[in-house]
Amino acid sequence: MRILLIGYGKMGKTIEQIALQKGHELAGIIDIQNRDSLKEYNHTNTDVAIEFTHPESAPENIKYCLQHGIPVVSGSTGWMQHFEEIKDLCRQNNGSFFYASNYSVGVNLFFHFNEYIATKMQAYEGFHVEIKEVHHTQKVDKPSGTAITTAEGLLNNYPAKNKWVSDAAAPGPQELNIISERYADVVGLHTVKYTSEHDTIELTHNAHSRIGFAEGAVMAAEWLPGKKGIYGMKDLLNL
Ligand SMILES: NC(=O)c1ccc[n+]([C@@H]2O[C@H](COP(=O)([O-])OP(=O)(O)OC[C@H]3O[C@@H](n4cnc5c(N)ncnc54)[C@H](O)[C@@H]3O)[C@@H](O)[C@H]2O)c1
Repeated sequence: MRILLIGYGKMGKTIEQIALQKGHELAGIIDIQNRDSLKEYNHTNTDVAIEFTHPESAPENIKYCLQHGIPVVSGSTGWMQHFEEIKDLCRQNNGSFFYASNYSVGVNLFFHFNEYIATKMQAYEGFHVEIKEVHHTQKVDKPSGTAITTAEGLLNNYPAKNKWVSDAAAPGPQELNIISERYADVVGLHTVKYTSEHDTIELTHNAHSRIGFAEGAVMAAEWLPGKKGIYGMKDLLNL
């Protein structure tokens, strides 16, 4: 497959490595220095684009692909306020769009187990629940997209909480607090923690490298072309 890489930072470079290992070719590489070259790409020279850039550039990059018939897999986080607009544009253009805040298969199993645990834990009022996420210091958004997806999965199955809050000093009784910490070289660590007076139950996912994300993104790019609509990891993994 001819893959257009949009964003050639830590993730773009890891995705290139995995895509070439799997026998794909690169239609091109776009980063901030040559962003004007994006207009050279369309459905005649590109089978699929993989977009990992920045919260501010992701919506424009995705729009370009949808308007030019390029199926697009995006992993950029921190731009969810534009998500409905992108979904509408995808439908209007009969396009193919795949989004995941986290492409790791392990994290998506973590999402699934988190939802299951919430359905069981919601009956026990003696437990206090919170989420913690830890990432490298260059991460620009907070909380992480993965932590937000984790929070949404929990909120949908845990009626005692009705919204998530970020780093609240004193969260309200119905608020689910997401604590964010930043340290050098942490790829991504997420924990859902239920604590009672007597014990603690924790579910943790700890990413050891970016390869898990890149493999999931390439898997999504292989799966998406030919499918019309908006998809995510639950569709890809049949969860
Ligand atoms: N969904 C996932 O599984 C997952 C995993 C890791 C990171 N991420 C997210 O992916 C994004 C990128 O992460 P990263 O670690 O590679 O970051 P990075 O900072 O290493 O790389 C981002 C790259 O995008 C480029 N860029 C910025 N604006 C651009 C534009 N308009 N057009 C083209 N390129 C542009 C930058 O120059 C940089 O090279 C972030 O939003 C991050 O949170 C998602």
